[in-house]
Amino acid sequence: MSVAIPAEDLRQGPNRAVIDRGAITHNARVLGGLLHEQTALMAVVKADGYGHGMLTAAQAALDGGATWLGAAHPASALALVRAGLDVPILTWLYDPTAVGELMVDVVGAGIDVSVGSPEALRVVADAARTAERRARIHLKVDTGMGRGGALPAAARALAAAARDDDHVNLVGIWTHLSTADDPTDPFLDRQVEAFDATVEAVTHEVGPVPLQHLANTAALIARPDLHRDIVRAGIGLYGYPPLPLPDGARLRPALTLTSSIAQVKEVPAGTPVGYGHTATTTVPTRLGLVPIGYADGLHRAASGRGRLVVRTRTGDDLVPQIGRISMDQIVVDLGPESTARVGDRVIVFGEAADAVLGDGQRVPTAADWAEAAGTIPYEVLTSVSVRVGRELRGEGA
Ligand SMILES: Cc1ncc(COP(=O)(O)O)c(C=O)c1O
Repeated sequence: MSVAIPAEDLRQGPNRAVIDRGAITHNARVLGGLLHEQTALMAVVKADGYGHGMLTAAQAALDGGATWLGAAHPASALALVRAGLDVPILTWLYDPTAVGELMVDVVGAGIDVSVGSPEALRVVADAARTAERRARIHLKVDTGMGRGGALPAAARALAAAARDDDHVNLVGIWTHLSTADDPTDPFLDRQVEAFDATVEAVTHEVGPVPLQHLANTAALIARPDLHRDIVRAGIGLYGYPPLPLPDGARLRPALTLTSSIAQVKEVPAGTPVGYGHTATTTVPTRLGLVPIGYADGLHRAASGRGRLVVRTRTGDDLVPQIGRISMDQIVVDLGPESTARVGDRVIVFGEAADAVLGDGQRVPTAADWAEAAGTIPYEVLTSVSVRVGRELRGEGA
């Protein structure tokens, strides 16, 4: 039995994830502009659109020229259809023994389903029989990620089983790259070779498969030869290219995490700050309390390494976070001369076009916080927790 927990009203919470819908549209346009004309852009909106809100991200990306949507979970894919998004959708991650009735609805809704094992083929074919609709399947090949999908040696037999089943239609063949963000790693080409050899073997067995896809954002940027029929872009849509873009192209971070100053305190040199007193002030200064912590998505591993922008009445200040990040709060060293007051807005990361900072300074990004925490922007974005209210900005908000 599940028990309802009274939810707090997120509008009354101190923190906001401000989603710039226009940035996602812009990013889709920029990424789409790098594709061959015949290649479709799939917007990957799994994990609630990388923390931006799945429906918001999906619609914004479609407005920017994406023509496919991708979601890991079948339930997410179904939510996209039920929200009225009428484009091809692919879903790829499910336990065939547990997916049950959901797969019937998914196939019934015309959603494309990845199949990477005989068990998956069986459950999708069964669902198609019940739904009285032929399932469109994409054969997933594990060319070196070592996660889901059929190994190349098993792919041919799986394709043959699909061909022999009247309830499924093999419309795609795909794989996922493990090192596309490191162009110096030769493993990428080994995966591509394995994929191409598998496509050839499958084609020999069952005839041409209409759609091939393997590129993520990194391969979209660095390897036009891998664009094929569809490119599955996630992180780039949200403004964080894993590799440098061609000259002139720029992506915009779409999520800005904001908070405010809840208390300002003048302290002497030698003041310890936070659990474990890992930081101690070295000069008399002003400390600012910001009511955001690791339960909101700030990684504790970034303690003492991140910086934030405080928007004071006399200007914007880039200030260091000091001491340990607590569950609900952090402390910033505002500096002895700070004019910051309680209620001043704080930008934790993201974009603020109107921010005026010192020479060489800029508003921190999710990539900066990722570096501070020893992780990747993907994790920083998807860690912004449910207790942070989402607020839409930009066209269509
Ligand atoms: C199967 C699949 N394709 C594409 C993507 C998009 O990758 P990226 O966000 O690096 O563009 C992901 C996300 O990790 C994924 O799981």
